[in-house]
Amino acid sequence: QEIYHYSEVDSTNNVAKELAEKGAVEGTIVIAESQRRGKGRRGKKWLSPSGGVWMTIILRPDIPTSQAPLLTLLTGVAVAETLTHECGLDVGIKWPNDILIGDKKVCGILTEAIARKGGLDYVVVGIGIDLNVDVDEFPPDLRKGATSLKNELEKEIPGEKLVQNFLLNFENLYQNFKEGQLSEILNQWRSLSTTIGSTVEVKKRGGTIRGEAVGITRDGILILEMDDGSLRKIISGECTHYK
Ligand code: BTN
Repeated sequence: QEIYHYSEVDSTNNVAKELAEKGAVEGTIVIAESQRRGKGRRGKKWLSPSGGVWMTIILRPDIPTSQAPLLTLLTGVAVAETLTHECGLDVGIKWPNDILIGDKKVCGILTEAIARKGGLDYVVVGIGIDLNVDVDEFPPDLRKGATSLKNELEKEIPGEKLVQNFLLNFENLYQNFKEGQLSEILNQWRSLSTTIGSTVEVKKRGGTIRGEAVGITRDGILILEMDDGSLRKIISGECTHYK
């Protein structure tokens, strides 16, 4: 397993994709101290000053492309386990990929699946954890829903230990995943999820859907129950919780 460490890159996901195109093996990791153009989901920018954990893992799983979203859920579980055990924090996961402390986001995950004619070629999973950063210094619009471990714990946490612990958790879960033990991962995700059981609004390109989140499929797709009792499956979107 190789770890590429940079002081600054545009985006660790982009560096990882370049390395994967050149044949980098599964498990290759790209870490940067800061990112000039960190990427969030849905084309958003991801503020990545030094002090945070900005990293990407290259994976080459033998799965159908439709199962790639599961890797996001699996990664979310690994981050949640790490923050619970290393920092003693009570965290929740908002579908599909936000790790929250209370109702504030501390980590986001950006999974990019690269498919070729024959199916899935490789996947890069980008993880951004607001570790030793001051959320007060974020622009007002980003500050609102965000927190950092430093802000929560009122002290700095050594990043190296956190990353090591995360990688161990990730490796265990990914091993289980490759052995087909999906139910265990999905159950862990469900028990950490603050989305299931909530009334949610999901913003999609075509408009907004409101319903009660009642479950998740084996491919990691969210199931909403609408007011009329019908069920709808949501593959992706921006999710907001209501009581
Ligand atoms: C989101 O919640 O919108 C996803 C944020 C993902 C951010 C991480 S930081 C490391 C990796 N490189 C990127 O450019 N983005 C991801």
